Amino acid sequence: MNLAEVDASAWAELEGAAADPQSAFRYLNLCSVDAYGRPQARMVVLRRVDAARRVLEIHTDVRSPKWQEISANPLVTLLGYGPQPKVQLRLQGLAELHGPASECATEARSLLPQSTRNTYVGGPPGDEIGELPASEGGIADADGRAFLGVLIFRAETLDWFQLRHADNRRAVFAYDHLGALTSSRWVNP
Ligand SMILES: Cc1cc2nc3c(=O)[nH]c(=O)nc-3n(C[C@H](O)[C@H](O)[C@H](O)COP(=O)(O)O)c2cc1C
Repeated sequence: MNLAEVDASAWAELEGAAADPQSAFRYLNLCSVDAYGRPQARMVVLRRVDAARRVLEIHTDVRSPKWQEISANPLVTLLGYGPQPKVQLRLQGLAELHGPASECATEARSLLPQSTRNTYVGGPPGDEIGELPASEGGIADADGRAFLGVLIFRAETLDWFQLRHADNRRAVFAYDHLGALTSSRWVNP
């Protein structure tokens, strides 16, 4: 594979993963930096990919710590690993947050199955279970509408790494704001 093919294959893999629960890249590690400068990492589901624009969509509860962290600092990393053929994708970029009232979140919510919507109905993520009765926690919306937020991630760089027996390979790609590839190079693994 040449550089253009590596870039295209990585994005095709991500695009496929958004539609395929069995794909290794369906679950990515979303990393942000908290108010104390500490790295924070957690798994998230890849909901949608626009490969041409280099955009990935993730859903979360707006009451979660990550929402606060990313509101204060939109620089995030998404990390994924596919065991066949042992490829790591490390994407750095900027996250845009779209709150529950946004068009983005309304549309995302309308496309979710009821079982997934229900994951936004409980108490605030990270609070002790049963700490607050639902009514006191401000939880009024049985559809989870009040808490579903959409994170739109725009990749600025992709660091692609393939583990091989004798000759690991690594390539780094950069994209502009519209998603066009602006540079690509092989680097030492
Ligand atoms: C496989 C898997 C998928 C997950 N997907 C999501 C997700 O799409 N959105 C989300 O907010 N949390 C998801 N979680 C939970 C997060 O990893 C995390 O525990 C939770 O969101 C709280 O994160 P925070 O305290 O950093 O905000 C997932 C967890 C697992 C194990």
